Amino acid sequence: MSKQRILTGITTTGTPHLGNYVGAIRPAIEASQREDAESFYFLANYHALIKCQDAEQVHQSTREIAATWLALGLDTDRAVFYRQSDIPEIPELCWLLTCMAAKGLMNRAHAYKAAVAANLEAGEDPDFGVTMGLYSYPVLMAADILMFNANEVPVGKDQIQHVEMARDIAARFNHHYGEHFVLPEARVDEHVSVLQGLDGRKMSKSYGNTIPLFLPEKKLKKHINKIKTNLLEPGEPKDPDDSTVFQIWRAFATPEQTAEMQQAFADGIAWGEAKKQLFELVNEHIGDARERYEALMNNPGHIEEVLQAGAVRARQHSQPLLEKLREAVGIRPLG
Ligand code: TRP
Repeated sequence: MSKQRILTGITTTGTPHLGNYVGAIRPAIEASQREDAESFYFLANYHALIKCQDAEQVHQSTREIAATWLALGLDTDRAVFYRQSDIPEIPELCWLLTCMAAKGLMNRAHAYKAAVAANLEAGEDPDFGVTMGLYSYPVLMAADILMFNANEVPVGKDQIQHVEMARDIAARFNHHYGEHFVLPEARVDEHVSVLQGLDGRKMSKSYGNTIPLFLPEKKLKKHINKIKTNLLEPGEPKDPDDSTVFQIWRAFATPEQTAEMQQAFADGIAWGEAKKQLFELVNEHIGDARERYEALMNNPGHIEEVLQAGAVRARQHSQPLLEKLREAVGIRPLG
């Protein structure tokens, strides 16, 4: 049986945080060790340009995200790890797909609809501030996925629609030009937790409530101390189910440690003490990776080499497929 191909992209606009780690990076690295699968993971820096016009930030984030995945032990001999912009076949495929993508389909994309709704709310023109990049975002994402004929696309809930759009576009292409594309499926892992941030809402860069993954120890401690808690005093029993401290604990702890902390909550552990233990747990968990991360961040030339090698491997797939696609749509030599 041929291997399942898993593919996912990470938009390079921010600094990886505990929520990214628990919700996406850790499960992706685990999946890349599966014998029955091959993984394609990439830095979506073209996607980054849609939401972020700060060149330094896009560049810095690309470096941080690459260093993070490598520091956490992604085995780049197994997984194909590359940067979107190193694969020139992707934007070319994006155009072929743009010519197959129904405008009406794009009109229904959540991100675009949300921008329009916000404009109407503010009494602006519906398309105020909407770039063609934002509008066509799902087509570029379809190109990312279809370029490598991925079967499984692990994503957060907000991205399911985009994977479905990739299927639609692929089906339309196949219908016109023959069976070139596998129809991908979104995979939303119900087991992995979506972490809450400092304020109790979902941990997300857009809420400014994150705990960056590789903070220096002192800063990590400070951030953990900032997690919002209720006013219950030491000795008063606390409810683990509505506590961000407990939730993060559980994401890093063994089942035994989780049971112990649950008991400590019932026994009225002080918030300060719970946070101190949480800091120690997280710090211990990521300590070695943080050292590797710092070394990598100080050696960007090495990261670049790893990405270039990944691009060579990725292009072994994208080049022949794109050649076939060009042929299929009628772009071929005359002689
Ligand atoms: N749009 C995705 C996000 O913001 C990132 C992404 C880009 C992606 N291309 C992809 C995810 C292809 C999966 C497959 O999270």
